[in-house]
Amino acid sequence: MSLPNRVIEALRCSVCAEPVSLTGRTLRCERRHSFDLARQGYVNLLHARIPAGTADTAPMVDARAAFLSSGAYAPLADAVASAAGSAPGLIIDAGAGPGYYLSRVLDDAPDAVGLALDVSAIALRRAARAHPRLGAAVWNLWEPWPVGDGVASVVLDVFSPRNAAEFHRVLAPGGKLVVASPLPGHLSELGDLVLAVDSRKEERLEAALGGLFVRESGVEVVRTQPFSAAQVRDVVAMGPAGFHLDRDGRRERLDAAAGRDVTLAVSVSVWRRAEVREGNPEGL
Ligand SMILES: C[S@@+](CC[C@H](N)C(=O)[O-])C[C@H]1O[C@@H](n2cnc3c(N)ncnc32)[C@H](O)[C@@H]1O
Ligand SMILES: [Zn+2]
Repeated sequence: MSLPNRVIEALRCSVCAEPVSLTGRTLRCERRHSFDLARQGYVNLLHARIPAGTADTAPMVDARAAFLSSGAYAPLADAVASAAGSAPGLIIDAGAGPGYYLSRVLDDAPDAVGLALDVSAIALRRAARAHPRLGAAVWNLWEPWPVGDGVASVVLDVFSPRNAAEFHRVLAPGGKLVVASPLPGHLSELGDLVLAVDSRKEERLEAALGGLFVRESGVEVVRTQPFSAAQVRDVVAMGPAGFHLDRDGRRERLDAAAGRDVTLAVSVSVWRRAEVREGNPEGL
């Protein structure tokens, strides 16, 4: 398992920002900073420590992978793929986790390659083998990303941190940002077993991206379906509330929720990269 060549061409050294090339299992820049590929195929480009609690842990990643493979979020993956389109080029998934959405998008875009960025190496072990045209790099999205300017045709962000300035820098002119974020009502039947959705989330999205992106379109993926005991357990364990499963009788409440109808309510929006000129953010 390795990194696709077109992904390597887009990557930059995370120390000095020079291009990198692969010799054997090592990525190296001209200044000889080097990064070994892990046996599982991803590369770790981090060189600073990450605050504890930032990266998804092994139990969270296992739960996420099990939950996603149950198909419960397949309608969301379909909506993300249709928003991303089938154009060739590089698709960067910011906070890709196990690579479920990126690999679904690549299925519909036969001439594209994908780069999964995530701070969780454990998640990227899975992402690296999720699709043959997918490369994976461990990185903190709040730092300048280890990729060149304008290298991406599409950036995906599904339930992950949003760094609008880096979305804008890495996208080519005319490039597309696809954002999936929960709507009020998402998983609401599970109460405080999962984190409540901030009712002003859409407004905050607008505020975070406005100026650098222009909203082009959006769909709402809403459906209610019965969740099995395993789906309830996994959807809770894959989120931040998964850290606290042993508190406040949560496990018993989890068992009691098995078989309940649960609502999936997610907005998938497409944003076009705005041309930013001095004093004229939307290039109008
Ligand atoms: C809610 S999960 C979503 C994962 C994936 N998009 C999905 O929906 O299956 C958020 C992801 O963002 C990653 N993450 C959180 N903070 C991050 C950061 N500062 N830099 C990079 N990844 C981060 C986590 O490790 C996790 O994989
Ligand atoms: Zn370097």
